[in-house]
Amino acid sequence: MVKSKTIYECEHCGTQYAKWQGKCDTCAAWESISEVRVSPKANRNDHLTPVQELKSLHDSANQKFERMTTGLEEFDRVIGGGFVPGSLVLIGGQPGIGKSTLLLQISGLLAAQNQTVLYFSGEESLHQVADRANRLGAAENHLKFANEQIVENIQAAVEKFKPTAVIVDSIQTAYSERSDNIPGSISQIRESAEILMRSAKRTNTVFILVGHITKDGFLAGPKMLEHVVDTVLYLEGDRQNQFRMLRAVKNRFGSTHELGVFEMGERGLTVVKNPSELFLGNRALDVSGTAITSHLEGSRSFLVEVQALVSSAVYGNPQRNVTGYDLRRLSMLLAVLDRRLGFGMGTQDVFVNVVGGLRLEETAVDLGILMAVLSSLKDIPIDPHTVIIGEVGLGGEVRGVSHLRQRLAEARKLDFRTVVCPSVNQKDLSNLKGIQIAPVKTVSDALKLLF
Ligand code: TYD
Ligand code: MG
Repeated sequence: MVKSKTIYECEHCGTQYAKWQGKCDTCAAWESISEVRVSPKANRNDHLTPVQELKSLHDSANQKFERMTTGLEEFDRVIGGGFVPGSLVLIGGQPGIGKSTLLLQISGLLAAQNQTVLYFSGEESLHQVADRANRLGAAENHLKFANEQIVENIQAAVEKFKPTAVIVDSIQTAYSERSDNIPGSISQIRESAEILMRSAKRTNTVFILVGHITKDGFLAGPKMLEHVVDTVLYLEGDRQNQFRMLRAVKNRFGSTHELGVFEMGERGLTVVKNPSELFLGNRALDVSGTAITSHLEGSRSFLVEVQALVSSAVYGNPQRNVTGYDLRRLSMLLAVLDRRLGFGMGTQDVFVNVVGGLRLEETAVDLGILMAVLSSLKDIPIDPHTVIIGEVGLGGEVRGVSHLRQRLAEARKLDFRTVVCPSVNQKDLSNLKGIQIAPVKTVSDALKLLF
């Protein structure tokens, strides 16, 4: 709130004073000075300047951002159709997951289009990066490298060389010389990001910052870094296997639903055209405790294998261990099994794993996970040509899912024969050829059908 302030004014000549006095210095009048309260805002009325120009939203709505595509389609799709000039992108991921590799590839692709790209690394030497760029086919003339950590120097280089894109690998090693904070500290990271943000906006350059995340999945550094930038991407996956998933968790210039699937190989990351085939690649048929379900992310649907292992708890407290799915959601499913179907889960350890390092956040996978758990509990395999789709409600009911047709098309493409799906979705499924639909209303219906 703006406080009003007190001044003193001569009633004769209007001279203003900060303090009261008996005689006006200007007109020499006695007892003419009195107290006035002014609101500073009102006082500044004379100096109001209108905004430079007002633009109609209607006219501007159809003007698309000039996006800059890298040519790596899977990447361009995740960031919303290409980079928006002047935007600040943060890419997070665990050490060793492939952030530097991906950015070097992206830089190489941009440089091959004659765009100048500056790659600043605080972590690796010229020799290391050049060697890798060579292997990745990214050693382009327009791609320039410096081992640099000081953001002021980066800023100066941007002003001088006017690049299209700048990579800062990583924001944790960057620091501002003008700051008193210790490099690597939270305040340093924030200050550095803010300086780079201003540089991006002023020069209309794309800045891509690398941010390492800790084992728990948080950006090492403040969460607020996510608030400073325009786009936050995460590169995820199991380091043990070759799949890498790129997703946007924040995007001021596009949706956050798209998922890019890559494979890490000899020559860096390559796009996986048909993820379902890969996710289902090595599955063991006729083993209890596995189920195939459907996962939809953005415009793509995948079939994924979920595995469960149920065994008697040796000690009092049963364990629940889950990879790739929400632990609380699993507890809910187990409570449904317990209360609605009468399976005593309180004495069982339950382990759930989503194959391929994928993280399932969609509720349409609930029924598949629940059936994998039941399959393990009963030690009866589920028919390997069956896909199980449906959200599970607290009452043990199977609720409808979105885009069932698209999911079924994927199942049919991969030669699955039967799809267990919510009966409420049945009306969407007229004239479907080549695949058998098994509608279920409740978890107990699915149980009877499958075992
Ligand atoms: P890197 O991009 O350095 O990870 P980050 O920057 O996220 O820490 O990736 C390192 C891993 O990727 C390393 O284990 C080696 C592997 N890799 C490949 O398998 N193929 C390749 O072509 C490259 C460049 C790296
Ligand atoms: Mg790196």
